[in-house]
Amino acid sequence: MVQTAIRATFFDFIDDPWKHVGEEHRAARFVHDGLLVIDDGMIVAFGDYQDISGDYPNVEVTEIPGRLITPGYIDGHIHFPQTRMLGAYGEQLLPWLEKSVFPEEMRYGDREYAEDGAKRFFDTLLASGTTTCQAFTSSYKVTTEVFFDEAAKRNMRVIGGLTGIDRFAPDDYLVTPESFYADSADLIDRYSAAGRNLYAITPRFGLGASKELLEQCRRLKEANPDLWVNTHISENPAEIRAVLAVHPDCDDYLGVYEKYGLVGPRFSGGHGIWLSDSEFRRFAASGASVTFCPSSNLFLGSGLFRLGRATDPEHRVKLSFGTDMGGGNRFSMLNALEDAYKVGMLNNTLLDGSVNPREQDLEEAERNKLSPYRAFYSITLGAAEALSIDEWVGNFEVGKEADFVALDWTAGPPAMEWHQSLLVDEHGPASTEDAAALLFGVMMVGDERCVDETWIMGERAYKKA
Ligand code: GUN
Ligand code: ZN
Repeated sequence: MVQTAIRATFFDFIDDPWKHVGEEHRAARFVHDGLLVIDDGMIVAFGDYQDISGDYPNVEVTEIPGRLITPGYIDGHIHFPQTRMLGAYGEQLLPWLEKSVFPEEMRYGDREYAEDGAKRFFDTLLASGTTTCQAFTSSYKVTTEVFFDEAAKRNMRVIGGLTGIDRFAPDDYLVTPESFYADSADLIDRYSAAGRNLYAITPRFGLGASKELLEQCRRLKEANPDLWVNTHISENPAEIRAVLAVHPDCDDYLGVYEKYGLVGPRFSGGHGIWLSDSEFRRFAASGASVTFCPSSNLFLGSGLFRLGRATDPEHRVKLSFGTDMGGGNRFSMLNALEDAYKVGMLNNTLLDGSVNPREQDLEEAERNKLSPYRAFYSITLGAAEALSIDEWVGNFEVGKEADFVALDWTAGPPAMEWHQSLLVDEHGPASTEDAAALLFGVMMVGDERCVDETWIMGERAYKKA
């Protein structure tokens, strides 16, 4: 296989910026004139062009000038069969599911419809710079097959799984605990760890999962301890009340998943807005992760996730970020960052507004602020660590898979170039701080129009028209 290389300006992370309060640049790595050498999709060398180009005299080099190369974005929580119905008007979580979500997802029982949806889904992800996602499918096996098949065609690293709901949905859309076990087991045999596919046992949420369904999830996890577990948790107050009514033997929402042995390092719970301090601590202690989905939380009016609480260094919860599309009204992780920043600012008004702010509130307020370092870490290396996929993706370490994005920091709305020129001159970023300033402009003023190219395993998979 011919080795190839990219010569460009690179920005990635080697550590968690929340660990470097006041000097977050130390968590980032900026290489102004860098070389990324790729062999068979894998990174074999990365560093300053001057330092390493001599070791690769015959490599075929692609130059990408005027762009900032970041690792591909990881969407930790997205719903493949909601691609068409995002932006549905008027309801909060539970009536929204009944009115808009289930009817659309039921169309994905038809293979042709699902295949068409899958092409649009992955095309849109790539145009948004998202190279990896953890996705919900539907109650149907065929939706899950189509999801994995289309991801494999594009050679994308994805996590997904048959999405089980055996109550609180139209009868035709319910699984039975037994059918969920059998269908999941068959899908695991065929898709788990095939190519870049990873399998998540996926009970949809506490309200849609009977004790019997969760018991089958436990059996699946016991039989396949290396698999991921993906679900929702503590998204909406009406949901939480209903969950505790279905599972009265559990003290809180996390307790439902704990009871069935599902909570640990490869467990992700989407949302977590209303988690108690005790639940946050149990997340931290078990190594499970929460996926913060700010666009969805605002769109559905679910609430404000306490980012500063989740990043308490004493009880640090592993975090990925997600669009939760169609709960979120955008596909782009850049929009998720924009909304996450605003959620942090609003949370700080609530903390500031308390009559006697406590020292711990002020520390939490500092951690709520989504700097560009925290933001881009959270959709690259941080997400990879939270989802336990950092052996493959998340930054430009040698041995990882070469998935990346070429960002045009001047693209976006009409005055974007002028706006960014206030921060950094026309020669582009010359330092880590410059790059971070431009990235903040990209997330707050730009959008997916800033994504100029998306590369998967060293091959260009998307180029903006
Ligand atoms: N809880 C159960 N199903 C869903 C879903 O499809 N979207 C969101 N946001 N929450 C859910
Ligand atoms: Zn969701």
